[in-house]
Amino acid sequence: MEKTIAQIKADALDALKENDMAPQAIQDLVVKFLGRKGEVTQFLRNISKLPAAQRPMAGKQANALKKELSAIFDEALDVANNRAGQTEAPIDVSLPGRKKPRGTYHPITQVNQQICDIFTKMGFDIAEGPEVENDYHNFEALNIPKNHPARDMQDTFYVSDNIVLRTHTSPIQVRVMEKQPPPVRVIAPGKVYRCDSDLTHTPMFHQVEGLFVDENVSFGDLKGVLTAFVHQMFDDQTSLRFRPSFFPFTEPSAEVDILCVMCRGKGCRVCSRTGWLEVLGSGMVHPAVFENVGYDTNRYAGFAFGMGVERIAMLKYGIDDLRRFFENDLRFLNQF
Ligand code: DAH
Repeated sequence: MEKTIAQIKADALDALKENDMAPQAIQDLVVKFLGRKGEVTQFLRNISKLPAAQRPMAGKQANALKKELSAIFDEALDVANNRAGQTEAPIDVSLPGRKKPRGTYHPITQVNQQICDIFTKMGFDIAEGPEVENDYHNFEALNIPKNHPARDMQDTFYVSDNIVLRTHTSPIQVRVMEKQPPPVRVIAPGKVYRCDSDLTHTPMFHQVEGLFVDENVSFGDLKGVLTAFVHQMFDDQTSLRFRPSFFPFTEPSAEVDILCVMCRGKGCRVCSRTGWLEVLGSGMVHPAVFENVGYDTNRYAGFAFGMGVERIAMLKYGIDDLRRFFENDLRFLNQF
């Protein structure tokens, strides 16, 4: 009795062993073993002819086999159907290949890179510093004492009383000078944070800071380096002017304007009818800053400058809305 059940099972599994069975062949096995006249069904029917004592056990075994075989056949059918589905749609080798879209660098990254390239070719090294900065490096050491009105120039995100998200990349100047004696020629690119958000301001933006310290450095050197920069960044016909300004960490200070790239100085909406566009801040390093880092102010002088990368990118590419850089709309980004 047991042997017969075992025999049926062995036959069924044997029959399935052939690899690559077509779905139809498996269906035929389902009929052969589990169909109305199938072997397992027949066996179940014949149970009543067995001696009463053997019936319960035989019934149990036959039902178990029925369940087991139907699960095995189901799975074999799934596999066979999948294989059939794949071969029914053969690859059409004459179709053109699918293009993998190629990424590009974000325009801000590109402009940041161009700025860095221009200055490294002039002999500047690249320096970096922390985005979470202490009050001393972000303000105090740069001659911006507590409660000084100059702190209002930059709306600050405070992490705690003495820790801020850096409001500019100028603290890197201080960190570099603390670590090395003159001469110094560095630029410091990075993210900066200000509590400010409207059409022309975002809470995070990018700056590149510059610092040049040596003996016999004059305002003429500052003008020469920044003129060379503007001519390479925009074009060598771009006029620029140095306009007196104020920064606590430089004296004298100057803002650099370029002739409006839109109207070439005639006056338009972009330059607020002035004909000029402000591109960066600069000046001769204030003696108080040198004293804070222990540089000899009788022997050394230096100039510094700082620019907003988004602003340079907007002027270079004629982009009128700062928010475009942060929306990540591919229709915009793909143009760069
Ligand atoms: N730190 C200034 C700002 O964020 C920019 C700046 C101006 C940097 C003049 C300088 C500088 O080094 O000399 O507005």
